[in-house]
Amino acid sequence: MTTSALSREAQQFRTHGLQALPHAQKRFLRDLLWNDVSTEYDARFLSAWLRGQEVKLGYFSKAFWQTHDLWAAEEERHFAGLFAVLQSVFPGRDWQAKLASRSATFEHLEPLLQDEFSVLVAGAFDELVTVRAYRANLHVYGLVGPLFLDFVLLMIADEALHYARFLRRLQEDHSSRSGEAKNIIRGARAISSAEPYGATFLLDHKDPEYTTELLDSAERILVANLA
Ligand SMILES: [Fe+2]
Ligand SMILES: [Fe+2]
Repeated sequence: MTTSALSREAQQFRTHGLQALPHAQKRFLRDLLWNDVSTEYDARFLSAWLRGQEVKLGYFSKAFWQTHDLWAAEEERHFAGLFAVLQSVFPGRDWQAKLASRSATFEHLEPLLQDEFSVLVAGAFDELVTVRAYRANLHVYGLVGPLFLDFVLLMIADEALHYARFLRRLQEDHSSRSGEAKNIIRGARAISSAEPYGATFLLDHKDPEYTTELLDSAERILVANLA
């Protein structure tokens, strides 16, 4: 599925479907797409921060970086598809300039993310939460058209794979520390409710789809998978 095919379908939706939507629904779709685009875009900031942390904190394994590289390429693909759709459905804004003005702050996450283990736990939790959040809005993405709906379903499959790959690293390389995972997840949840999202990719959990039930269930699943 190419970004130009996604753009074509999104342009058609703008001409034929968008006007029929109530104002509140249009706004919801625009804000949802922008939130998704910007969070997927922020993966590059997390990636750069991780490279810097390795210099500061020391060793991150080769297996970690292999997992990271696949993850970074896939998040970039998510960004590109979502951005093509956002620009085609809502062309009135300079979205590119909005993206270019973003910068990330990791200070509030630094006490939590101290090593490869804690990064993998926070990453696994975040990916599982993302699967659920994308799923919760499938009916909204589907308004744009069947191709975009397929794209979102493929993204959900990727996010599930990201979770599975981070989990595998934890199980294979850090099993002696599994008991610490719950505290890290609790710490991550406390930070994300107390602090503004700092364009860190991780823990962008402020929107209504991120219910306490959703976060509790992701926490339970990850802790159970590590037991
Ligand atoms: Fe993604
Ligand atoms: Fe992901």
